[in-house]
Amino acid sequence: MIVSGSASQGLAAALAAELGETLGAVEYESFPDGERIVRVPPVEGRAVVVASTVSDAAHVELLQLQDAVVEAGADRVVTVVPYMGYARQDEAFDPGEPVSARAMARAIASGTDEVYTVNVHEPSVLEHFGVPATDVDATPHLADPLPPDLYDPVFLGPDASAIDLAESVRDAYGPGAVDFFEKVRHSGTEVEVSPSETDVAGRDVVVVDDIVATGATMSEAIALLDDPRRVFVACVHPLLAANARTRLANAGVEAVLGTDTIERAVSAVSAAPALARELE
Ligand code: R5P
Repeated sequence: MIVSGSASQGLAAALAAELGETLGAVEYESFPDGERIVRVPPVEGRAVVVASTVSDAAHVELLQLQDAVVEAGADRVVTVVPYMGYARQDEAFDPGEPVSARAMARAIASGTDEVYTVNVHEPSVLEHFGVPATDVDATPHLADPLPPDLYDPVFLGPDASAIDLAESVRDAYGPGAVDFFEKVRHSGTEVEVSPSETDVAGRDVVVVDDIVATGATMSEAIALLDDPRRVFVACVHPLLAANARTRLANAGVEAVLGTDTIERAVSAVSAAPALARELE
């Protein structure tokens, strides 16, 4: 049986359909003091808990679901965290800070036999789970919703670490050059990006990243493009916090395309097929 966190119901339904497994109807409620409670139906055999930890409340819900499925009869718990929150704090950047990714991974691992993530921000985070943990690559699917007639396309990563993602989308799309920008982050909302060497004038550009959060990285990168024909943004996790969608629109983006690891209006493709291949 597949059970889902309240923020991941679409992806869980798609995954249940891919796997041909039952989708358990979960009840989500809150007590007057704000504490949450979930209720799951009876489970036999394996339970797959699907919950992106897009908020602190979603983290709590995930831990409750893991516990509830065991109470309901599951003999094995597989946890799918399509978007793993706090994965970007994968080290203590300043004195006194936690390695938040490790704290979250330990909590999640305490209630499961196995974990799957999708394009987790920093793969070394998987080591903190202490149970078998696998990262699934959904980036090739981001090529699906791109127009088939991109003109002389260039696939750009907004920083060096995103070049593999850009390459993966290009490989799935077909033709196209790949390059990346240099990025220095000054704070949670401020980044400085330097141009890539590729001439993009008159060409269609697809900027690819794992996460779009505030949109600062993407909008800074796009502002450096010299006279592109059209600009598309493709990301695995369309977090789109605060006014990120407006920032991208004002940056002249033709379309924002994401997966359903975070369920947003721009979630044009599902990570379910990629996850199903691993879970079958
Ligand atoms: C950082 O290294 C990530 O890959 C993304 O570039 C970053 O999380 C995007 O954040 P924002 O949209 O706030 O610039």
